Amino acid sequence: MGLAGVPLLLTVCWLGTAGAAAAGGKVLSPPSNLSYSFVQICTLNWTWNPPENVGSSCDLEYSSEVVIGEVPQDTRAWSKSRSRVTETCLSEELRFRVRSECKHDNTTQPSSWLETSLLPKGVPGTAAANLSCVWHNLESMVCTWRAGENASRDTNYTLSYWFDGLNGSKECRNYFMHQGLYGCTFNLSFPNITRSYPVVRILIRDHSEEIRPVCASKNPTTIVKPATPGQLTLSNVKDEIHVEWSESETFPENCLVYEVQYHTGDLTTAQIIQVESNYMSVPSVDPKSKYTFKVRANPKPECYSSHLYSDWSEEKSIGEKQHSCNLLHLVYFCEKMDSTFPLALLITLPLTVAVSTIILLVYLKRLQILILPPIPDPREILKRMFGEQNEDPQSCAKDDSLNTCDRFIKEEEIHSLIVTETPVCANADKET
Ligand SMILES: *[C@@H]1O[C@H](CO)[C@@H](O)[C@H](O)[C@H]1NC(C)=O
Ligand SMILES: *[C@@H]1O[C@H](CO)[C@@H](O)[C@H](O)[C@H]1NC(C)=O
Ligand SMILES: *[C@@H]1O[C@H](CO)[C@@H](O)[C@H](O)[C@H]1NC(C)=O
Ligand SMILES: *[C@@H]1O[C@H](CO)[C@@H](O)[C@H](O)[C@H]1NC(C)=O
Repeated sequence: MGLAGVPLLLTVCWLGTAGAAAAGGKVLSPPSNLSYSFVQICTLNWTWNPPENVGSSCDLEYSSEVVIGEVPQDTRAWSKSRSRVTETCLSEELRFRVRSECKHDNTTQPSSWLETSLLPKGVPGTAAANLSCVWHNLESMVCTWRAGENASRDTNYTLSYWFDGLNGSKECRNYFMHQGLYGCTFNLSFPNITRSYPVVRILIRDHSEEIRPVCASKNPTTIVKPATPGQLTLSNVKDEIHVEWSESETFPENCLVYEVQYHTGDLTTAQIIQVESNYMSVPSVDPKSKYTFKVRANPKPECYSSHLYSDWSEEKSIGEKQHSCNLLHLVYFCEKMDSTFPLALLITLPLTVAVSTIILLVYLKRLQILILPPIPDPREILKRMFGEQNEDPQSCAKDDSLNTCDRFIKEEEIHSLIVTETPVCANADKET
């Protein structure tokens, strides 16, 4: 069903027979009717018909090659079968060619190549780019990609996947997007006894015709990323520190290595210890020092050929309590401590108090103006009632016509200014 949605251009051509007709040798005729069909997303089944007039002494075989984007793939194959299954990337031209050969017969020349080429559909540069997938904790596959440079910003890429054992291809459902990075997560797990995993084929496309589809194959074992170790617990046993963390439930036994990093004081003294169990001890520790630990997991090469580490666990510390920072010895003590928290607090706390006090004072002043408006001076009122007649509204009315005229003239001036200025601007524009 999903296969019908990936139409491809098909061209068939016969390659020249140059070189095939060696002196005296009989030349085989090539196979015919080369065609393909999708057996799964990203997987093609090429079929052809046998050549005509093959002598009974000929032990007929077909040799076939794949060329993707002008690069011959390292997959020349010989077979007696009249079909071959290959992968396709869909985003680049794929050429498939086949010829007939008589095995163990140096008197008959191989036939010329019969070639078919599959051209990608969609606009160049719209295919999803930088596809990267990580298999988290043997449970879920998280794939991310970026939009092709010629794809529109609101392209809705979809991801389908298939692997041997799955009836048909499935579409990923949990899409996410973060700062231009597209992504989708799907469940992927196999029975715990399985040690070899099928290759997962991934197809990213869009429902529109413009977006170029792209296929990729991911070998799950190479992209295993263990879950972050949890429940890190530290305890003092005599003069040792005992460290323990939770074991993964999804990994088979003895398939993880843990890297424990710990340090006292500053980070330059950090030590890294590798262990295969989910616990360890640090012997003969200095009881006066504070020790900080974190752990991460890495798949064992015997189980998975992945080099991905889990994220670091949260940090946990054990040891003597921190000195309280005394202002006089502030710098001295705090520099010796790995935590900058008390120092930052001591600087920011008084600052915050001072700033908030100022804000409060300004705010109160405004509040006062609102609640208690300034009391008008009675002398001012009396002055207005009986005093200076020039400022009387009635006398103003007399001059009103004059005033408006004045204003009009002023506006005229402004207008004419604009009027005279505009053509200059327009001319200047034309000149430039
Ligand atoms: C490919 O096609 C041929 C001929 O139709 C068929 O016999 C063969 O089983 C197909 N292969 C696959 C893997 O489907
Ligand atoms: C074919 O191979 C045989 C032995 O393998 C050799 O004697 C003979 O000369 C070869 N013929 C040609 C045309 O290469
Ligand atoms: C994007 O489109 C332009 C113009 O059609 C083309 O020249 C360019 O090659 C495309 N980009 C890619 C990556 O194909
Ligand atoms: C992608 O999906 C959104 C929401 O469904 C829609 O608004 C947008 O038009 C779609 N983009 C394209 C290119 O179709």
